[in-house]
Amino acid sequence: MTATLIKGTVIREEILEEITKEVAEIKEKHGVVPGLVTILVGANPASMSYVTLKIKTAHRVGFTEVQDSQPNDISEADLLALIDKYNNDESINGILVQLPLPKQIDEKKVLNAIDPDKDVDGFHPVNVGRLMIGGDEVKFPPCTPAGIQEMIVRAGVETKGAEVVVVGRSNIVGKPIANMMLQKGVGANSTVTVVHTGTKNLDAHCQRADILIVAAGVPDLVKPEWIKPGACVIDVGVNRVGEKISEKTGNKIAILKGDVDFDAAKEIAGSITPVPGGVGPMTITMLMANTLKSLKFKLGMI
Ligand code: GUN
Repeated sequence: MTATLIKGTVIREEILEEITKEVAEIKEKHGVVPGLVTILVGANPASMSYVTLKIKTAHRVGFTEVQDSQPNDISEADLLALIDKYNNDESINGILVQLPLPKQIDEKKVLNAIDPDKDVDGFHPVNVGRLMIGGDEVKFPPCTPAGIQEMIVRAGVETKGAEVVVVGRSNIVGKPIANMMLQKGVGANSTVTVVHTGTKNLDAHCQRADILIVAAGVPDLVKPEWIKPGACVIDVGVNRVGEKISEKTGNKIAILKGDVDFDAAKEIAGSITPVPGGVGPMTITMLMANTLKSLKFKLGMI
């Protein structure tokens, strides 16, 4: 058997089209568009490329985008003052501070300073709490888990009553996706197990999974024999395992590997996300979805 590929690159296009259409309708009716500010501190190459892509995508869907670049030696007080400025800026619906931050800055303090109603990353404790409560309380689900759930739904995978096994317990992926999949509602209502570095018999847990979500950061951790035949496998891993020359551009690019042994797994799984081109493109897409949602909350549309 060869699994169906769940391609983030394709689902991204569908969602961005939907967002673009909705932004145009809101602009026509209310005369406003969503505003997103991305704050980049320093010049970390990976962060710079993420921020560039976020800005480009925001522009594409018709948002007002502000890129606020700050020097690596900015003080914590100055960064907090900047966040305060955007918290009070009526034209801004979403504030994103690109992580990681330099050592002199307490990341927790910064994330906690963002107005929870503009926290489109969904990292503020208020939004973490809202996610935990579920249902109508949820404002901004964190982007990567939101993307994973969206992929599962759009791939037509049954989640109600499904055994979901999440590998990894990070605050950004493992814990929130586990929480989201156990809530009552569409694309959820599953029986969830979270496994991690302290778990015994990792393989036995994975073998029970109808939906296996892997966010461990270990290349090829999940072996084909850990996968239940026909299961849906979501690979969140993005591991740089080397470099190669791009055929398209002639530039050096990273060789990426997921947390799942893809070539073997695709012969057993019913559906599977590739790396790259799977979960990756969904994160920025859901950032756009959250920013649009923020404006809709403000306009009383939801
Ligand atoms: N750095 C890497 N991923 C992310 C993300 O999703 N949000 C923010 N703010 N920073 C990141």
